[in-house]
Order: sequence, then structure tokens, then C-alpha cells
Amino acid sequence: MFNNDTATAPMLFDLKRARRETPGCDHVMHLNNAAASLMPDSVLDAVFAHLRNEAMLGAYEAAAQAPVSSIFQSASSLLGCDPSEVAITDNATRSWNAAFNSVPLVTSDRILVSRSEFVNSSLTLLQASQRSGISIEVIPCDETGQLSVSHLRSMMDERVRLIVATHMPTNGGLVNPVADIGQVAREWNCLYLLDASQSIGQIPINVKSIGCHMLSAPGRKYLRGPRGTGILYVSNAIMDRLKVAESCQEAGTWPTFDQYIPHGDARRYEIGECSVALRPGLGAAIEYALGWGIENIWDRVHTLGELMQHSLDVLVNGYAAIQHEITLGLNALIDSDIDISHRFEKIAVEVVFRPANSFVRRATPLVE
Ligand SMILES: Cc1ncc(COP(=O)(O)O)c(C=O)c1O
Repeated sequence: MFNNDTATAPMLFDLKRARRETPGCDHVMHLNNAAASLMPDSVLDAVFAHLRNEAMLGAYEAAAQAPVSSIFQSASSLLGCDPSEVAITDNATRSWNAAFNSVPLVTSDRILVSRSEFVNSSLTLLQASQRSGISIEVIPCDETGQLSVSHLRSMMDERVRLIVATHMPTNGGLVNPVADIGQVAREWNCLYLLDASQSIGQIPINVKSIGCHMLSAPGRKYLRGPRGTGILYVSNAIMDRLKVAESCQEAGTWPTFDQYIPHGDARRYEIGECSVALRPGLGAAIEYALGWGIENIWDRVHTLGELMQHSLDVLVNGYAAIQHEITLGLNALIDSDIDISHRFEKIAVEVVFRPANSFVRRATPLVE
């Protein structure tokens, strides 16, 4: 169906195979990847196989046979960390909130946030500031819309407890200088929480080179996993600086009446009761992405992004000039009255006319 083979794919990318292994390609031209991507066969097979096992053996009995540990292994390969530093959650918001809520805060603390935080994170920050009196301060952007690292550096002091940033914001396709932010966090021994919801699966991520201590991401976007899955990375190096994350038996041990000991690694963020069938699906999605090579995926996405940017520039005068990068998903803010979603049939696309991040808005002219 989607036959734009002329979109100069790098030679390494076998588009025919990609489409053959994605059943949805026979039905829809799906551009709404920033919301959720079409799952490949291997993901569907993994979920269905586990559900079948649940029906045949019983849910807990099937869970005992599920390839759980390999999922953590896959996620750690994707992120460049140890498997013990990964927790599986049910979406990016749950991952982000679990990480944020485990950071001990006192009234005098300052939290520095990028302008393009997702609305859910912004709401959590807002409530934390109302509850505990901490100060939430927005880091200005440079002229391209990226977080300004020099401004960040000038805002730092010993009261800054946490830096919060988003790798690629929901709207517009900006890519923030996440490793430079990590360098500032390192200089100040300050915690750093990164939202990689729009970047995971399409751009290579190595948490150690980035220098973030915590990272949140969903499974369903560019990783092409099932909805209802999320990934949380928490560095083992900072575990003793964090509070109890989840009060449940899977997240720790309860050896005596008045003592609860959370696990010493990211298992402390795990909840026992979950959709176990989705986990092999997430594992299969990560393996599928790794099989293609995240570098190759990024090459392909980037090529298509440039093509789209150029085409939009022709369609909407001046668009390219005010966009730094563009995500493959057309979840972009288009300052025009063109309603793309209603002009074509069988095209899954979402166009938003207001930025989703309403609490801390980006400073680019596009959203002001
Ligand atoms: C940048 C960013 N952060 C966080 C989220 C929230 O992800 P989830 O819906 O999995 O909680 C989204 C969702 O679109 C997002 O784009």
C-alpha cells in the first residue's frame, strides 16, 4: 500500500521485508507512530502465544514459563545498561512518575525542567511543587528551540535536586542535547531524569554516554511494541539516593513486622499484577528493533524526515525554517488550516493545533 520506495532508503533497509512483516501495511498508510506504531508479526505472535498459554495452562502457570529475564536483557542491550537497571511498567507516564516520586524532596529543593515536558510530567511537577513547596524552574531554549545548555549551567547550584528533560518532545520533532545536559548533571552530582518516549526505537540511546540516571519510555511508539507497556531505567549507582518506589511484595522484601526493604535494583519499581502477555510482546519488539539496527532505523527516519520537511516547506511556506528536526510521525504542529487527516482515506495521521505540553511551552515561534 505504502509504495514510496523512492524515499531514498539507505541500502541496508529492506522495505519490502519490513512491510511484509507488518500486517497493518496491507490496510493503512500509518503515519501516527508518535502515538503508536503498527506492530510487526513477531510482536503479535509473542503476545498471542502467551495468551494462548494462559488459556491452556492458567495465568500464573503460564507466567512461570514466560521468557521474563530475556526481556530485561533485551532492554539493557537497547539502552546500554545492566539488566538489573531496567523495570517494565505499563506506559511511559507510569515509568516517569515512579522515577520522579522516588526522588526525596525537601522544600528548599529546586528542579530544573526543559520547556517541552509532556503534559503528564508537567502535572506531576506542578502537584509536587504545590505539595512540598519545591521550586520548578524552566530552562530557556536557544534560538533553535533546543534546551540551552549554557542557561542550564548558569542556573545550577547545590539546591538543584533534579534536572528533567525530554529527548524528543511530542510536538515538532526537536532533539534536545541530552548528553550535554548529562555533563552538567555530572559536574554538579545532580540527578537527571530523561523522557525518551519519542526517541526510543528510532534514535540510538546509551544511558551511560548520555549520563541520565533515570529514563522513561513507552513500548508502543517507535519500538512498535504493544500498548500498555513501558520501560524504566534507573541507574544502580543512585539507588541508595532514592526512596521506596512501590509498596508491594514484588518490589521488595518484608522480613520483620516493621521493616520493608525495597530491592536494591530497578526491581523495586515493578508491580506484581500486570498484563504478562504484553511483556513477551515488548521483548519481541525490542529484539525486532535491535535486529534492524537502531542506527539503520535512525538513518531511515532521518531521510524520511528530511523528505517530509522539504515537502511541508513547499506545502506550508516557511515550515522548514522553523523546524529543527522532524519526527516520522506527523504528530506535528502545523500552523495552517490544512486538515490532512480528512483529505486522505486509509491514512492514519494525527495533527494537533495546540502543543500537548501546556504547562511549560516551547519558546519557538511555532508554538508561541
Ligand atoms: C514526550 C512524551 N512523553 C511522555 C508521553 C506519555 O507516554 P504514555 O502515554 O506512554 O504515558 C508521551 C506520549 O505521547 C510523549 O510524547
